[in-house]
Amino acid sequence: MTAPTPALPAKIDPLVRAFLDTPGAVAAALKRFGSPVHLVFPQVYAENLAQFRNALDQLLTQHRICYAHKANQSRAFVRTAARAGIAIDATSPQEVTSAIAAGFGPQHIEVTGPKGDVFLRDLIDRGLTINVDNLWELARIPELAGAHTEVPVLLRVSGFDDGQVSRFGVPLGHIERAFDLLAAHRDRIMFLGFAFHLDSGDTGERIRAIDACLALVERAYGRGLTPSVLNIGGGYRQVFTEDADQFDAYVHALRESLLGRGEPMSWGSNTFGYHVAGGAVHGIPVFHKYANTIPATRMLEDLFTAPLERHGGRTVAEVASDNLLDMWLEPGKALVDHAGVTVAMVEFVKEIADGSVLVNVDLSRDSVTPADQEVMVDPIILPRHGVSNETSPVGVYFAGRLCLERDLITNHKVWLSERPRPGDLVVFPNTGAYHMDLSAATASMRPPPIKLAVAHRGGAFHVCLDADYEPDPPIGPPQQHTPRRSPMPSEAP
Ligand SMILES: Cc1ncc(COP(=O)(O)O)c(C=O)c1O
Repeated sequence: MTAPTPALPAKIDPLVRAFLDTPGAVAAALKRFGSPVHLVFPQVYAENLAQFRNALDQLLTQHRICYAHKANQSRAFVRTAARAGIAIDATSPQEVTSAIAAGFGPQHIEVTGPKGDVFLRDLIDRGLTINVDNLWELARIPELAGAHTEVPVLLRVSGFDDGQVSRFGVPLGHIERAFDLLAAHRDRIMFLGFAFHLDSGDTGERIRAIDACLALVERAYGRGLTPSVLNIGGGYRQVFTEDADQFDAYVHALRESLLGRGEPMSWGSNTFGYHVAGGAVHGIPVFHKYANTIPATRMLEDLFTAPLERHGGRTVAEVASDNLLDMWLEPGKALVDHAGVTVAMVEFVKEIADGSVLVNVDLSRDSVTPADQEVMVDPIILPRHGVSNETSPVGVYFAGRLCLERDLITNHKVWLSERPRPGDLVVFPNTGAYHMDLSAATASMRPPPIKLAVAHRGGAFHVCLDADYEPDPPIGPPQQHTPRRSPMPSEAP
């Protein structure tokens, strides 16, 4: 018996799986719209949202979900979010336009990230909530606001852990200057509360940030300000892998190969962030997020039921409720998890000087890879002429368009049950969050893949342009938010 080949099986949503398994369905979509394509599944998005919302309903008395639009440009997702009655986090004039076109009213649009003068002026004119990134923005708002305008503002803060430096937000050490501005311009600034976003999935780090913000709420009250919102940003993780043991086994084999043991498994001199020295592999790989097995809803549970030492061991949720704090969250990837795949076509397969096999598809790395990360889930082959009975496993690298030596789609080796043929389709799983859009460029003047929405209705799948998709009826009551001037928080430090 031969040993099983290393594998990185992807977790696939049942609806997506059903579409991929429907004979001829994917091929028909490509025949109609061309190849390659991004397929988005708004019903999977709606289901993710329902679960996320349900988890929050169980945990918090007041909350608001602001979908982080930057995760995907899909209009179908934004329409689905609007129809569900949640809010949206936009970061650019284009995302604001997209949100408004999808049906979001001004009171449901929050704008995050650094903004220039022109953008700020536009946000004030439109009456949107401004999540202020820095003291310049905070000082500029009252200058730009008309005499009778009260601009809703959240103050993003950063630098919660010792030595932590962020390019975003107002550092905690500068907070008094922010309080001075907020206190001096109460007639023009409606201070809703504090905000943060951590570029990390670590729950402990998030709890420390919440605790620091609760202390800021108390200090703000001391300055006569009345914050009622705590916006804890995004960062709720995705689960890519179907099988954590197989993932670990693959990574073990990869590390062995980096030490020269077994078959080579990486293209060129790639070490994926590992440091190889003294006969050992050290460090954390760039792809560590693909190993995660904890769903976003569990993260929410862990976060909001965590005890806060400074508050007598009461949980984050209890302290928020006692202080009448409205908890805002900005999930991006967690709502889009499993709601998108990318399909390309094999153009040719070639063997190169060292015997490596390259499967060339009509796609570029930047269309399925966010910020040059290595994506650690196996693509799925849909053979043009059906599955053959004979299997002859082959380890390959997926290559595609673009011209640099390192522009492979997979820099790690992928084992397939047999060598693909021209015309076979290749499905890249779970590309919805950032993979499709974050880094996509138009190098060589090639446009990015077209985006299609797939829905299951009346017992059949329907495929349309993403721009033409209309969601099903609402999945829940609209969220109400009236900015409140809440009473003093009950907590003493
Ligand atoms: C301010 C802000 N909020 C929310 C998000 C969404 O994060 P995620 O997709 O990890 O939930 C981001 C992502 O960069 C962000 O910068």
